Amino acid sequence: FHFAAPANEPVYSYTPGSPERDALKKQLAAFKSQQADIPMYIGGKEVRTGKTKDLRPPHEIKHKLGHFHYGDATHVNDAIAAALAARSQWADTPWEQRAAIFLRAAELMATKYRYHMNAATMLGQSKNAYQAEIDSACELIDFLRFNVHYLSEIYNQQPVSSAGIHNRLEYRPLEGFVLAVTPFNFTAIAGNLPTSAAMCGNVVVWKPADTQVFAANVTMQILIEAGLPAGVINLVYADGPVLGDVCFSHPEFAGIHFTGSTAVFQHMWASIGNNISKYKAYPRIVGETGGKDFVIAHKSADVDVVATALARGAFEYQGQKCSAASRAYLPSNIAEAVKTKLVADLKTMKQGTVEDFSNFVNAVIDERSFDKIAKYIDNAKSSSSAKIIAGGGYNKSEGYFVEPTVIEVTDPKYVTMCEEIFGPVLSIYVYDAEKFEETLALVDSSSMYALTGSIISQDRYAIDLATKKLVNSAGNFYINDKPTGAVVGQQPFGGARASGTNDKAGSMLNLYRWLSARTIKETF
Ligand code: ALA
Repeated sequence: FHFAAPANEPVYSYTPGSPERDALKKQLAAFKSQQADIPMYIGGKEVRTGKTKDLRPPHEIKHKLGHFHYGDATHVNDAIAAALAARSQWADTPWEQRAAIFLRAAELMATKYRYHMNAATMLGQSKNAYQAEIDSACELIDFLRFNVHYLSEIYNQQPVSSAGIHNRLEYRPLEGFVLAVTPFNFTAIAGNLPTSAAMCGNVVVWKPADTQVFAANVTMQILIEAGLPAGVINLVYADGPVLGDVCFSHPEFAGIHFTGSTAVFQHMWASIGNNISKYKAYPRIVGETGGKDFVIAHKSADVDVVATALARGAFEYQGQKCSAASRAYLPSNIAEAVKTKLVADLKTMKQGTVEDFSNFVNAVIDERSFDKIAKYIDNAKSSSSAKIIAGGGYNKSEGYFVEPTVIEVTDPKYVTMCEEIFGPVLSIYVYDAEKFEETLALVDSSSMYALTGSIISQDRYAIDLATKKLVNSAGNFYINDKPTGAVVGQQPFGGARASGTNDKAGSMLNLYRWLSARTIKETF
C-alpha cells in the first residue's frame, strides 16, 4: 500500500457573512452554553475520578466552560497497562488498516468536526479564528495525511538483494509504550505527537497541557469515531512529576515525544538517564523545547517587509508560537522607518475575546504566563538598557491581556534579547548598518536556542553570508519572511541546541524515531 503525497488542506477565510463564519460562531455559542464534563480515556473507557479542574477561556476567566477529571499515579499505571495490553494486536495490524484510521480522522476534522476543533481551540487556548484554522484544522489534518504518506515511503525503502539472497527491512514499532507530552500553543502539535507514534504501530500514553484539554478532548473523540482501537492512545490528565515518576521507572518505557519547555525536557532526560538500566530497550527521546527566534534585517531590506514580518511574526497568537519572532536586529539606515511603521501597525491591532473576529490579539494562556510576561515588561520599564516604544500595558481583571509590546534595547545582551518570554513582547536592537557580519555573530551567540530565524535583505551576497554564518542558529531559516507559519509537507519543523532534538515534525526524520527496524536476510 503506497499513499501518494497529499495536497495541503485548504484554509478557510471566515469572511464576514460567509456560511463558514456563521457555522463557527454557532459552534462557539454551543460550547459556551454547555458545561463540558471531560473524562480521561483509558483502554477505550471514559474515566471520571470526581477530582476535577475547571476550564475557562483565558480571555474571559469569569466564564466556566466545564471541567475535566484529573488522575493520579493509579490512572497513569492503568493507562500504561491498557497500552501494553493493546500493543501486540496493534503492532500486528496491517499498515493499510492503521493508516485508514488516521486518514478517516483527518477527513472528519476537515468536514464534520472542523468547527468543533476550531471553536474548542479558540475558547480553550484564546486563539482567534484565523490562527485556529491554520492550527486545529489545516495543520493537524496535514500532519495526519502527510505522515501516512511519509510512513508509506519509509515502509517502501528496502535494501538491495542479489542472486540467492533476499534482504528486507521490517520497520517494527518500539517495544513498549510511547509517552506523548504535549503543549498548549498548537492543537496540531498536541494531536501530532501521539498520532505520529501510534501510526507507526506504537501504543501511547498521551498527557496534554491542562490548558489544552478542551481541544485535546475533541481530538480524542474524533480519533475514537475514526475507529482507533481501545488502548492504542490513552489520554490522561495528571501532574507532571507523578506522570514522570510512573512512566520513567517503567521497564517498558520506549520513548517520549515531547513539546514544551527546555527545563522540563532536561529534567525528563535526566530522569530517563537515571533509570536507564531498568529499560528493556534504549528509549527514544524526541523533544521540541523553546526558542528565542530572531529577525535580522540587512541595510538593503525593504522597510515594509521588515515591519510586516515583525508585526505578524511577533504578535500573532500573542507571541506564543514557539517560532515567534522575539528579537530583532535592525540596521541603523532603516531602523527609524521600520519602528515607525511597526508602531503604526500595532495601533491597528485590536485586542479582546475570540468571539469578536476583528480582534487580532487575544489573551495569553494563563495567570502564570501573564505574571511572567508582566515581570519582563516591568523590568524593562525600570532598566537603563531598555525603552518601551509600544504597548507595555497589561490587565488580568477579565482575562490575561498583555498589550503587544516593543522594547528597544541599547544592550544587545539585555535579558529580553536572550531569554524566552513566550508572550507578545518583541525586543529590538539597532546596529551600525556597516557592521552586518559582526551582528550575525551577535545573533548566533545571544541565545542558547536555535529554533527559527529570518534574514531580510535584497542583497543576495548578504543573504548568502547570513545563511552561512547562522548555519546552526535556527532549525527553520527564513529568507524575506516572518519566522513563523511552517506548513506541513513544505517546511519540516524543528530546532536544535536548546530548542530540541530537531527531529522535524511532519517528516520522515520524525517518523524514523518511532520505528525500530529488523534486517532480515534470507538465503535461497
Ligand atoms: N509550526 C509552527 C510555526 O511554524 C510552530 O509557526
